[in-house]
Amino acid sequence: MKLTLNVNGATRALEVEDRTSLLDALRDALGLKGTHAGCEHGVCGTCTVLLNGEPVRSCLMLAAQAEGHAVTTIEGVAPAPGELSIVQDSFVETHGMQCGYCTPGMVLTAQALLRDNPAPTREEIVEAISGNLCRCTGYGQIVEAIQLAAERMQRSNTP
Ligand code: FES
Ligand code: FES
Repeated sequence: MKLTLNVNGATRALEVEDRTSLLDALRDALGLKGTHAGCEHGVCGTCTVLLNGEPVRSCLMLAAQAEGHAVTTIEGVAPAPGELSIVQDSFVETHGMQCGYCTPGMVLTAQALLRDNPAPTREEIVEAISGNLCRCTGYGQIVEAIQLAAERMQRSNTP
């Protein structure tokens, strides 16, 4: 089937099988390999992307279901080529990634959290990322990264 998806602000035409997941469409049809495949049955959160700004598991959605919605992948969060978003930069600074496999999903989940709750408590951060598994178990640094990003975003909004 032919689809038109809005991905990272651009309109992308693609042709996929009816049963193609959003995850496979992003990676295989559009070449956006930053969305990682983990369990592929909705458990690990590795495949998280934003759909109209809300985190979703792209392995559980059909690509066709994303038509008419705004999809954001990790490739769409940096302000410009070669730059990092505040959340990405905070992950680097606190060593919030080890192998990096869970990182795109973690960053997108954090981004959605901080948009809705600019000053989350540690408990709220832990709750927000509770659906994203890190097999390197780097949760301490991931929470620290999100706390740092929250502080930086608040400062950047201060005139
Ligand atoms: S790959 Fe989608 S939840 Fe694990
Ligand atoms: S950094 Fe390796 S899975 Fe999280």
